[in-house]
Amino acid sequence: MDKIAVQAPATTANLGPGFDCLGMALDIFNELTVEHGPFCISVEGEGAGQIDATENNLVFRAMARVFNRVEKPIPELTLTCRNRIPLARGLGSSAAAIASGLVAANGLLGKPLGLDELVQLGAKMEGHADNVAPALLGGCQLVVQEAGRYVSFPVPVPLGLRAVLFIPDFAMSTAHARKVLPASVTRGDAVFNVGRAALLTMGLSAGKLDYLRVGTQDRLHQPARQSIFPAMGSIFQAALEAGALGSFLSGAGSTILAFTEGESMSGAIGQAMQTAAARLGVHGRVAAARPTALGTHAVPATA
Ligand code: HSE
Repeated sequence: MDKIAVQAPATTANLGPGFDCLGMALDIFNELTVEHGPFCISVEGEGAGQIDATENNLVFRAMARVFNRVEKPIPELTLTCRNRIPLARGLGSSAAAIASGLVAANGLLGKPLGLDELVQLGAKMEGHADNVAPALLGGCQLVVQEAGRYVSFPVPVPLGLRAVLFIPDFAMSTAHARKVLPASVTRGDAVFNVGRAALLTMGLSAGKLDYLRVGTQDRLHQPARQSIFPAMGSIFQAALEAGALGSFLSGAGSTILAFTEGESMSGAIGQAMQTAAARLGVHGRVAAARPTALGTHAVPATA
């Protein structure tokens, strides 16, 4: 194949209590076009002028992993990235970059690797699989590590479930947001999260949306991350008071996600989050997204 285009979805990880284990694909897509030609990486949209365009580029590194894995030299390639996923906002922009590179390289090579192998490669690059698994596979994925491999289980998503995103103007680095986490947790906090993660997956699987309010609560990572983003708790509260089903920090932040059913409450929930944030000096924009069953997939190459 000479030219290939793929789209990779945004993802929200953790969903509150499922730290490093749960993630869901959202219908905001980055598009990558790859063709044989002189080495060049161009970026349009989110991250334009900011993203590394050398061989250290994350998309290119993911492609190189696939070529290395099948022991083939990487050819000269021209990459065009059309990005819609905001960077460093907890919406899985790195996972989308990795997933798009993996799937495009695998496609160019005639698909020698299965999706499971791509999940392993992607998770090794990220260090955890809760963004990369849903970015590759779509839907909501529960990922566990067993005998050195990541194993992914799809969690059904109720049809009417929608996400309202408050995307702050400030970035949060995942590395920094992981450094502030305590090395150990109390048994009480562990029990708190185990119960809620189970309740959340049960609520999603059974379509019991009223389980999400308690099921999205967390004591493993959000309380510590509040030190970097003090307004977080007030924004969760504002979303819930405006009728959200549940609210949490998306991945390692800074986006705050509120779940709602259908579209009717989205505007009010977004407005409530934005107003509560502004009162505490945090500015940002609101966006609506739908969970998507689409993982990283090929699209007709137009560029
Ligand atoms: N589970 C990860 C974290 C997601 O919360 O640090 C980061 O992308």
